[in-house]
Order: sequence, then C-alpha cells, then structure tokens
Amino acid sequence: MGSLEYPNTRIYITQKGGVGKSTSCVEDSDRTVTILNKRTLHIDLDPQGNSSTHLGIERAQFEELEEVQTLPGMFRGLSELPDIVMSSPSVRGLDIIPGGVSLTGIEVDSSLHGLGGKLRRQLEKYGDRWDEVRIDMPPHLGKLTYVGVAAATEAVIPFELSGQSIEALGPVLEMIRMTCRQEDRDDLESWILPTKADFRQTLDREAYKMVKDRYGDKVLPPISRSVKVPEAFSARQPLQRYAPASKPNQEYQEALKIINKTTTKAGRKNK
Ligand SMILES: Nc1ncnc2c1ncn2[C@@H]1O[C@H](COP(=O)(O)OP(=O)(O)OP(=O)(O)O)[C@@H](O)[C@H]1O
Ligand SMILES: [Mg+2]
Repeated sequence: MGSLEYPNTRIYITQKGGVGKSTSCVEDSDRTVTILNKRTLHIDLDPQGNSSTHLGIERAQFEELEEVQTLPGMFRGLSELPDIVMSSPSVRGLDIIPGGVSLTGIEVDSSLHGLGGKLRRQLEKYGDRWDEVRIDMPPHLGKLTYVGVAAATEAVIPFELSGQSIEALGPVLEMIRMTCRQEDRDDLESWILPTKADFRQTLDREAYKMVKDRYGDKVLPPISRSVKVPEAFSARQPLQRYAPASKPNQEYQEALKIINKTTTKAGRKNK
C-alpha cells in the first residue's frame, strides 16, 4: 500500500502521561540521523510541544508561527508538508515539524473531514525526501493519535515500570489495531519500552516480569531512571551529547538496535 518511497514511520504512543514518549522519540530521532545517517523527519503531534523544545525549538518560536507554517495549517489544506518543516538547532541534519497549542483545535474541529489519512497522504506525496519519520504523540487517544497511527508503519509504547498498571497497555494496543482495521491495513509492528526502571525496587522488578510474561518478545530491554534524562532536556540536547557515559544513553542504543534490526528484517511490510 502507498508509494514505494513511503518512509519508515515510527510512532511513540500511549495515553499515559509523563512516561517517556517525548524523551524516547527524541533519542530515536537523534540516533537515526547521527548513527544511522538516515534522512529523518521528526514530527511533534503534541500540543505541549515538549520534543520540539528538547530539539532546540523554543516555545516562543513555535507558538508564534503563522497558521500556514504549522501542522494545523497543513491539516486545513493551507500548506503542504515541506512548507512546515524546520531544522533542529540541537541535532544537525534533523528535520522537524514542531507541535504547539494550536494542535488542540484540530481535536475539536468538526469540519476536518478526511483528516484521518491526511498525514499519510502527505508522506506518500513527499515521503521520498526522508528515509525515516518519527512521531511524538500526545498523552491521549483522540483525533491526533488516529492521524499518527494512520500514517505509521510501526509503534513504540513506552511503559513506566513503577506506578503504572499493565492494564494501561490494552487500550493503546486496541486503538492501534482498530485504527489499522479502519484504514484497511495490517496491524502495526509494536514494541513495549519499559522506562524509568529502578531494579532496586521490588515493584519495578515485579512489573517488568509481569509485562514480559504477558507480551514476551514485544518487550524491549528497560531504560533506567536517571537524573541525566531531565538534565538533557534542560540542556536541549540528546543523551549521546549530554551524557554519553550514562546508563540510559547506552540502554537507548541497545533498545533501538533491536527495533531497527526487526524493521530491516520485516522489510517495511506495513506500507
Ligand atoms: N529514564 C528516565 N529517568 C528519569 N526521568 C525521565 C526518564 N525518562 C523520562 N524522564 C522524565 O520524565 C518526564 C516525562 O518524560 P516525557 O516528557 O518524555 O514523557 P511523555 O510521555 O512524553 O509525557 P507527556 O505524556 O506529557 O507527553 C520528563 O521530565 C523527563 O525528563
Ligand atoms: Mg510527551
């Protein structure tokens, strides 16, 4: 389905807030450019715009864009995908489409018929400009998440080990499955990424075992909790640059290696 040039498009998705979607998506986008040398587009579909900020586009900058320069402008047919692409000041060579508060309007704009497949159609049209796309999703399952899933070829679901019930994974997997069915596509290849792990805590060890028992090979090796992660956000840098010797930096490298290997093997099947 779609054109041959459709880029590999990976979403970071879950309705749970604050579990590491934006952080993980930024780490992935950075490494896809700097280690894999792929032409990469990072799309921030979250009104909070946290991954845009992390990648060096400050809130004052993206909130001041004209509608025609933004995702809502593209969704309303005022512009095309290439018109709204910026360069990340933090990661040289990374293209980025920032998020922003105006995305909230998309959720409630009832005139936007055909919104579901809009991003996918734009990526079909212009996707030969990038090899890889990464999309950071908002912390709910609504219209914007539908748009992201409809454009995706694979999904990563961050799962914070402490304080999060394994039952939180059911709705997001079901949402992905139902969106794919609605769009007449195969279900997405999905991984669960345990985050903020502290294996000195019994609860974290138990949660990891539980999620492994239920989801097996879909579960990636965990990312440890570390103060270096919020610090890297404050420094507007990815971990590779801010804290190369830190545990999460090495763990993100391992987890992404597993995903990228599977993707290559699967030969980008869901296009
Ligand atoms: N491994 C980690 N160790 C310590 N803190 C972390 C870790 N991963 C993420 N954080 C911190 O947790 C907070 C939430 O992370 P992040 O913004 O990535 O989550 P999110 O799922 O995108 O949140 P939201 O649902 O609001 O979009 C941030 O302050 C981030 O720096
Ligand atoms: Mg986020």
